[in-house]
Amino acid sequence: MKIFFIVFVSIFSYFNYLVARYYSNAFNLSGKMNIAFWIFNVLATASIFAAPYVYRVYPERNPGFFYNALQWSGYFFFGIYSVLFLFVFLNSTGLYVYEKFSAPSEERRNFLKLMVAGVSLSATGMMSVAGFVEARMKPVVKKVKVPLPHLPDEFHGVTILQLSDIHVGQTIKGDFVETLVQMSNELKPDMVVLTGDLIDGLHSHLAHELDSFKNIEAPLGRFMIPGNHEYYWGVDHWMEFWRGLGYKTLINEHTLVEKNGTKIAMGGVHDYSASHTDGSLVSSPEEAFKGLPADITKILLAHQPRSLYKALKAGVHFQISGHTHSGQYFPYNLLIYLFQPYVKGLHHHEEKMWIYVNQGTGYWGPPSRFGVPPEITLIELIKQPVA
Ligand SMILES: [Fe+2]
Repeated sequence: MKIFFIVFVSIFSYFNYLVARYYSNAFNLSGKMNIAFWIFNVLATASIFAAPYVYRVYPERNPGFFYNALQWSGYFFFGIYSVLFLFVFLNSTGLYVYEKFSAPSEERRNFLKLMVAGVSLSATGMMSVAGFVEARMKPVVKKVKVPLPHLPDEFHGVTILQLSDIHVGQTIKGDFVETLVQMSNELKPDMVVLTGDLIDGLHSHLAHELDSFKNIEAPLGRFMIPGNHEYYWGVDHWMEFWRGLGYKTLINEHTLVEKNGTKIAMGGVHDYSASHTDGSLVSSPEEAFKGLPADITKILLAHQPRSLYKALKAGVHFQISGHTHSGQYFPYNLLIYLFQPYVKGLHHHEEKMWIYVNQGTGYWGPPSRFGVPPEITLIELIKQPVA
């Protein structure tokens, strides 16, 4: 973790230096104005590193004003610089290509530099404000119907409410959890599934923020699997915590959900990348549904969409995932497609199994979800006639 942090600090500092140098040049800053600009950049960058460091090394059960202020400013500037860096890259590349092909005068070149810098800075400011509002608003309820060929008649119309990637911790607290619990109960689901990355912090620090999860009602059961972030913060403690709240945790195992004498199987796995934390933790859909007949409906909870390749081999009919946040904010919502087979919504993979990807009920890190609103998903199982 230390090495990761040092690499993170080094790379991010260099990127921020490039951003500051670009805007200092583009706006032709000099004298005291330039010194003030650089001091501001150094302090903002320092807060990006201080926030996670303080949070990890000095966890506070009841953090005070300055502690919270550091978390907010650190993650706010994290978001700002991550967008600015991409703009600097695009602006510089665009201007380089333009100059190569049209050889503009010195005056025109400086004017273009100034204009492009001004537009990108304004756009980043506007996106950050809009993204903050979107990240902190009540999640959107997405309703989706999933047709399954072997679903028992009794399960036709049964609903599963999914919450995922809440990341309770640095800036998301118990009041947001209470909103989620209230919204969930208003939807009256038959089952509730929590598909990982529910927290960012230690159990001893955060458990009280999540206490109201015990009040979500679901007559056919409440289920939980870990995401990669649970492994960063003591997965065993967190699994025990959820079991204590009345949730059935599913790790490479399944449970049978019964309704009027008929059954379907609900399974879950370790996170796809759990083995990075401990080599013995293997994510295995096959193990999860071992010994079950092929025609019993199998629903798999797997934090990352890329578990679907193993899921397909294990005969899973429907996988429910999260993890991607669908990129969380522009322009990363475009880049996320490079890393996962599906990043949001419902898909019929190879026309053999269904996968639904929740784009995140909370947010990670920067309090921004520009163009990618938080969601609660209400999935309705539909019996599909077999041709
Ligand atoms: Fe994740």
